[in-house]
Amino acid sequence: MNAHNKPNTPTLDSYWMPFTANRQFKAAPRLLASAEGMHYTSIDGRRILDGTAGLWCVNAGHGRRQIAAAVERQLSTMDYAPSFQMGHPIAFDFAERLAEVAPGGPDAKLDRIFFTGSGSESVDTALKIALAYQRSIGQGTRTRLIGRERGYHGVGFGGISVGGIVNNRRVFPQLPGSDHLRHTHALAKNAFVKGQPEHGAELADDLERLVALHGAETIAACIIEPVAGSTGVLIPPKGYLERLRAICDRNGILLIFDEVITGFGRLGAAFATDYFGVTPDIVTTAKGLTNGAIPMGAVFVRRNVHDALMHGPEGQIELFHGYTYSGHPAACAAGIATLDIYRDEGLMTRAAALQEDWHAAMHSLKGLPNVVDIRTIGLIAGIELSPRDGAPGTRAYDVFVDCFERGLMTRITGDIIAFSPPLIVEKQHISEIVSILGDALKRVK
Ligand SMILES: Cc1ncc(COP(=O)(O)O)c(C=O)c1O
Repeated sequence: MNAHNKPNTPTLDSYWMPFTANRQFKAAPRLLASAEGMHYTSIDGRRILDGTAGLWCVNAGHGRRQIAAAVERQLSTMDYAPSFQMGHPIAFDFAERLAEVAPGGPDAKLDRIFFTGSGSESVDTALKIALAYQRSIGQGTRTRLIGRERGYHGVGFGGISVGGIVNNRRVFPQLPGSDHLRHTHALAKNAFVKGQPEHGAELADDLERLVALHGAETIAACIIEPVAGSTGVLIPPKGYLERLRAICDRNGILLIFDEVITGFGRLGAAFATDYFGVTPDIVTTAKGLTNGAIPMGAVFVRRNVHDALMHGPEGQIELFHGYTYSGHPAACAAGIATLDIYRDEGLMTRAAALQEDWHAAMHSLKGLPNVVDIRTIGLIAGIELSPRDGAPGTRAYDVFVDCFERGLMTRITGDIIAFSPPLIVEKQHISEIVSILGDALKRVK
């Protein structure tokens, strides 16, 4: 099939697309051909403003020559090298650079770094490190992993076990013993809030309830997204993260923050850990790590957790885990160039400077048809629509298509429209986002 027989349209049959309604998409495809700065260009030559940094990953904007040049240099010097019982300097260099900006205060820096190939791999790695740590300190009965309803932690079996999105779970078996906190989304109490909502800190006490139910000695770790993105922008209520940290401390449970979307400047600090001032034991990252240019993830681990595994005979492998592409040289080159750009252009903190304009612009959409909530933090916004009777998700989908046709890329989950533009966004782009989205909201019934 050559959809619509449009010029430049490839044959679409062979590619089984991820998280996509394949048949619907192939009947009316949206195809992107190039990208530069804040914009994509579609195959039919239309400019599309990127309201979502690709998939929350292109934080420094598109087409960064510095990254491309670094990757090209690395590929022509050494394309690949194994990382099992063998090393290459650029992976160590990148880890050192990441350690300098690692989440956590000076006393609790998470500066031991394990490389993966994606967010899903980072999550499964973090869960395994937590299990291995508990065993290494004589707490081998702690095998239970706790997540949260509406959590998204990628698509590995570990990630879907602690994740809380029913469609990602119902067809697949999960790890035995995993359990969930309730989510914190409470529209009736917290609608149209800028920043952290007032109500809901007590929902962290769900972890106490699970301790009472299962016994602390069975629980290895609790993983949450400090700000959930993929399930429609859920911002932690004031005091919630602090409370969760305290409960974990009291009960010997490791706290994992999944910062795959919040890492690398999304909130106006390098990590959500720093933004909220609550330090977990492990932080998972990917996406903005390489500006989305080369797939890669990194897991940041507190020293005490790392060090607990560094014992036994020196010739013994401490953690039986790793990927062929852990510390891939080209990905490390992309990552170092990305960190240089973030540093030189102040992008890790730029969201803080733009936050007020962003809040004001997004909340100006209040009152438009079907808008039941707008929530914003850092350079993130979630706009929630009331669902159509009997057809949840279709209203936001129509808004998404309308925006795309008029030159704006958005991201939808159910009836929630999410924005997370590249951190190089300018005020005129923010105005454009609001204008195109506002028109779509008026048009779509
Ligand atoms: C919080 C979070 N964790 C994990 C993932 C999975 O990352 P990946 O798609 O790179 O496997 C995502 C992706 O959106 C995410 O938002």
